[in-house]
Amino acid sequence: MILDNENIIIINCGSQFTQLIARRLREMKVHSLILNWDSSAERIKSYSPRGIIISGGPDSVNDPGAITIDPEIFALGCPVMGICYGMQLMAKILGGHVVSGDTREYGVTEVHKAGGNSVILSKNIPTSGRVLMSHGDNVAELPHGFRATSLTDTGIIASMEDTARNFYGLQFHPEVVHTESGGYILRNFAYTVCKCSGDWKLSDWVDSTITAIRESVGKSKVICGLSGGVDSSISAALVHKAVGDKLQCVFVNHGLMRLDEPEAVMKEYESIGLNVKYVDASERFLRELDGVTDPEQKRKIIGRLFIEVFEEEARKVDGAEWLLQGTIYPDVIESGTKKGSALIKSHHNVGGLPEKMNLRLLEPLHDLFKDEVRRLGKIIGMPDEIINRQPFPGPGLAVRCLGAITKERLDTLRRADAIFREELKRSGLYAGIWQAFCVLLPVKSVGVMGDSRTYSEAVVLRAINSQDAMTAEWSRIDFDVVDRVSKRICNEVPGINRVVMDVTSKPPATIEWE
Ligand code: XMP
Repeated sequence: MILDNENIIIINCGSQFTQLIARRLREMKVHSLILNWDSSAERIKSYSPRGIIISGGPDSVNDPGAITIDPEIFALGCPVMGICYGMQLMAKILGGHVVSGDTREYGVTEVHKAGGNSVILSKNIPTSGRVLMSHGDNVAELPHGFRATSLTDTGIIASMEDTARNFYGLQFHPEVVHTESGGYILRNFAYTVCKCSGDWKLSDWVDSTITAIRESVGKSKVICGLSGGVDSSISAALVHKAVGDKLQCVFVNHGLMRLDEPEAVMKEYESIGLNVKYVDASERFLRELDGVTDPEQKRKIIGRLFIEVFEEEARKVDGAEWLLQGTIYPDVIESGTKKGSALIKSHHNVGGLPEKMNLRLLEPLHDLFKDEVRRLGKIIGMPDEIINRQPFPGPGLAVRCLGAITKERLDTLRRADAIFREELKRSGLYAGIWQAFCVLLPVKSVGVMGDSRTYSEAVVLRAINSQDAMTAEWSRIDFDVVDRVSKRICNEVPGINRVVMDVTSKPPATIEWE
């Protein structure tokens, strides 16, 4: 493979942060390529890298069977930086000594510069700083030619360098935000040591990805289930640029979308020229959900039905060989780390379908983070309504309509939800909130309207802010706005006589109520 841009090879030794290294490099306009730990030096050389980064990893270098890398990598004459496990591997391979500590510490620690000027910890980096460190193992004896450039409070070597050979090691993770000056450190490696000039742009990624998709798909067809969400919509628009109408999209209306949403979403898809088949399966979904109140059962029914409906439609597309999915990197991390962890909610997607239907999976956004996907959307000319759309759960309003799902209760929820979002937009708050929505409770309380007693259900206002939906903080919305929303909902939505606000963060709550 010939790469047009300057690039840095990242050798992945299994760290959950490997993609984050690539992302940080992208942020500084440096292209990188992630290769598996067992890639030969020969293969790495074939990419003519400006530099090599060895990632962290879960192993201990002293364990039998621990991941190792081709030692010839250190003979390529190219700068190498090892991060955490990568530094330990570097130390071990080059003749140093790595010891295993009794306990595995994981957290933010203070480190202090040591031993004179350092290339990586350059002048603009303070003499002490906080870093994210994982030091179960540490380098007790430096390889020949290296010197320590920083230490922890307990005297552990936090970084090392051999400037003659351009080898650098960091016991901590410069790629995470918890490491102060982490960005400067990576920049020093990429720009000062590897002499990169920053010749890469996200639009280059768009061009090369479109070409790669076009070549892979060839004469066959791609099918894609659209939900109106940012990731699936942007994936579809990207693939459409590559293969045109050989991409057949299917939009399943499960009857659980917000007010006027299916129509609005279809209009947006039409405006960007996507070939979308609209399938109204709302009655089928509502029939099967009739009388179901258990959250997990609701989710399972919706997930199963969605696959059934999508499969029926997909089978009608002659020559379909690919299934396009809008998977982005955080989805990959989540499923990678979910092994063995407790089931909190079963998210639905079209998993299982590719094998069953003998389809190949196309996931062009697989390596990108949400904000990168949004920037990508801008580059390829997606409408702002799609790019800035708040996340919406696959099972839709079913997980916001607590208790029994009926058409009437869904309509009540839709009207209240539309008022809440409308008032937030009017007050200019909507764009700054990660998610804002209403939840309908199956709880009746007494109220008074006019001179009459009412006995009706309650609506919850839920608004949260978050970075990645893994944790969330409830949004402190201006009380005047809350007051307006509350008055409008009680006045305009029949069947509601009380509005309450959810002031719980995640954890302990989840963002959705079910
Ligand atoms: P929770 O409620 O687990 O939600 O804190 C985290 C984020 O995921 C969204 N969510 C879903 N998204 N399918 C999805 O595609 C689902 O089944 C699903 N359930 C929750 C939720 O809206 C929030 O952004």
